[in-house]
Amino acid sequence: MKYIISGTDRPGSNTLKVAKHVQAIYKNLGEHVEIIDLQEMKAPLHENLQYGTTSDGMKPYMDKVLHSEGLIVICPEYNGSMPGILKYFIDHLKYPDSFEFRPVCFVGLGGMFGALRPVEHLQQIFGYRNAYIYPERVFLMNVFKILDASGVITDEVCNQLLIKQAKGFKKFTEALTAFEIDANATIAAKKK
Ligand SMILES: Cc1cc2nc3c(=O)[nH]c(=O)nc-3n(C[C@H](O)[C@H](O)[C@H](O)COP(=O)(O)O)c2cc1C
Repeated sequence: MKYIISGTDRPGSNTLKVAKHVQAIYKNLGEHVEIIDLQEMKAPLHENLQYGTTSDGMKPYMDKVLHSEGLIVICPEYNGSMPGILKYFIDHLKYPDSFEFRPVCFVGLGGMFGALRPVEHLQQIFGYRNAYIYPERVFLMNVFKILDASGVITDEVCNQLLIKQAKGFKKFTEALTAFEIDANATIAAKKK
C-alpha cells in the first residue's frame, strides 16, 4: 500500500485537507491509499524516543513507511523550509531501509511559491537516502485561496496537475514493483 505523509502537526492544517483530497484522487483511480498524519504522532515522537530506536507508540507509523509501496509527501512551507516535525519524523525512521529504493513523490503547499523551497530540500534528503524520486512535483500556490471550507481544491488547473501526478506515480510504482527493483523487493532479497 502507498501512504500519504501529511507533513505537519498544526491543528486544522491545510496539509491534512490536501492529503485527504489526494487520497480521494487515488481512490478514483482504484487505489486505497492511507494517510500518515503527523498530528497523531506529536506525543509518541516526543516520548522517550532515541534516534535509531523505536517505541510502542511510534512502531506502527515506522512500520507503515518501512513496508510501503510508495510515499506521497505533502509538505507545507514554514519559514522558507519544511515543518520541524516532518524532518524530526524522517530522522527517526530506520536507516537505510525506510527510503532506499522506495518510490516517493511530492506535493507542496504554501503562499507565493507553493513550498518550492521545502520540496526541493526534501528532494535532496530523499536523494541522499537513495529513494526513487518521481520527477513531477505539484506546487499549490496561495493554498488558502484554492481550498473551500470542506477541503476541496476548487482550482481546476491544480486539480488536473494532482490527477496527472497520481496517474504517473501509480505507473512508476507498478513498473518498479514489476521488475522487483523497489525497496520491498530489495529488502526481501537481502533476507534470502
Ligand atoms: C509557522 C508558519 C510559517 C509559514 N511560513 C511560510 C513561508 O515561509 N512561506 C510561505 O509561502 N508560506 C508560509 N506559511 C503559510 C503556509 O505555508 C500556509 O498557510 C499553509 O497552509 C500551511 O500549511 P498548514 O495549514 O498545513 O499548516 C507559514 C505558515 C505557518 C503556520
